[in-house]
Amino acid sequence: MAEILIVEDDRNTLSGLTEILREEGHEVDGVDSARKALTILQKRSFDILLTDLKMPEINGMELYQRALPFAPEMKTIVMTAYSSVKDAVEAMKRGVYEYLTKPLDLDELFVILEKAVDEQKLQRENVELKQQVKSTYSFENIVGRSAVMQHVFQTIEKVAKRQSTVFIQGESGTGKELVARAIHYNSLRAGKPLVEISCASFPETLLESELFGYKKGAFTGADSDRKGRIEMAENGTIFLDEIGDISENIQVKLLRFLQERQFSRLGDSETIDVDVRVIAATNRNLEDAIEHGRFREDLYYRLNVIPMILPPLRERKDDIPLLLDHFIKKISLYNKIPMPVLSNEALQICLNYDWPGNVRQIENAVENAMILGDGEVILPEHLPLVTGKRSQKGSHGDFLSVAGPTFKDKVDVAEKLILQEAIKSADGNKSEAAKILKISLRTMRYKIKKYGL
Ligand SMILES: Nc1ncnc2c1ncn2[C@@H]1O[C@H](COP(=O)(O)OP(=O)(O)OP(=O)(O)O)[C@@H](O)[C@H]1O
Ligand SMILES: [Mg+2]
Repeated sequence: MAEILIVEDDRNTLSGLTEILREEGHEVDGVDSARKALTILQKRSFDILLTDLKMPEINGMELYQRALPFAPEMKTIVMTAYSSVKDAVEAMKRGVYEYLTKPLDLDELFVILEKAVDEQKLQRENVELKQQVKSTYSFENIVGRSAVMQHVFQTIEKVAKRQSTVFIQGESGTGKELVARAIHYNSLRAGKPLVEISCASFPETLLESELFGYKKGAFTGADSDRKGRIEMAENGTIFLDEIGDISENIQVKLLRFLQERQFSRLGDSETIDVDVRVIAATNRNLEDAIEHGRFREDLYYRLNVIPMILPPLRERKDDIPLLLDHFIKKISLYNKIPMPVLSNEALQICLNYDWPGNVRQIENAVENAMILGDGEVILPEHLPLVTGKRSQKGSHGDFLSVAGPTFKDKVDVAEKLILQEAIKSADGNKSEAAKILKISLRTMRYKIKKYGL
């Protein structure tokens, strides 16, 4: 439940609201002027500021702005008469969380409060997670506690500050692009461009002009000079992705560029010098390609100065729980939805699965489960891609096995089930269901909204 400060100059409304919200289980303080509110806010913090907009002396908007510096996380909800909704909308543009019109609709108030509190909780958790993960198991959003990933983090840190060419190898979805970015953004070149090119997505001739640029008239259609991506990366980094797929001709040109940091635009005899750092990546087995004559050995050695191997997920299974947790939080935050909890059964299934699509596949599976599931708990049936089973309604199992982060998460799951059962046995009649549970109809309605029943 939330800590709420109510500011309302009408004494009757103030005492009524204070009482109702206390009854709902919140911790409530009420004052009748913005000045008093400011004094309290300097001494202690609240989750929610519920304030009247129109008040003598200092109005609600001014209060919000003046309180912001010492209560940046507090969510402000303004209350206003229907006639001044325009001001309320204006207030929202300036950062106020929500507005309510008077006379207040209590159900609406409860729903908005709930939403504000959930969002705030998520934001706080995310900040905490970031701090916690940053110090232990993550580097620039790359998550991993396994020994190999810890080694990857150390290597990133060591190579970032140097100029050496880095060659990243790993199956699809193992995080090669993420690592390339981490290296660039932790290097001295961070303020300069990182230019990425996926070599496999261009046909040969186009790839050549994309990389090296061309001079006007170099070929039909070349009606002006154009810089290539290598030139665009001047003083920065070029990330040559999927380099295992390039033709012999381009291999030769790249070799020259890597040896001399020089090249010419297509159709131009002039030589251009560039200061560019090179990071390359592939998901192919290049040694195999070399053996079959598809990839030049000399180019391979020029690229493979600092090799980095990203192992497939099935070889570092201790990263799986951390990645699941990371994506649940990331996707909740991105979609602004409350975090579901991961059941132990679902976790076990994920741990036993081989993840041929690696981290990308885990991210997709979590997103699927969160969008298609019931929003509360991720169960095996929400992971059809992993289990190979079609989703079906099953029981929620026992509550202890629900691997929710907190006691409250488990209680919420239980509460929702109890409500569902009561509504079912009352044949959908809400007041009947409320009677069964011996709660007021208003509470029933509020909880129905809360759990989206
Ligand atoms: N260790 C990790 N922690 C967090 N997210 C990760 C990690 N590894 C990969 N990801 C995420 O998984 C997805 C795939 O990663 P990325 O694009 O870097 O893979 P890739 O190795 O370049 O794959 P491909 O060879 O298919 O291009 C991205 O959304 C990325 O953010
Ligand atoms: Mg990639």
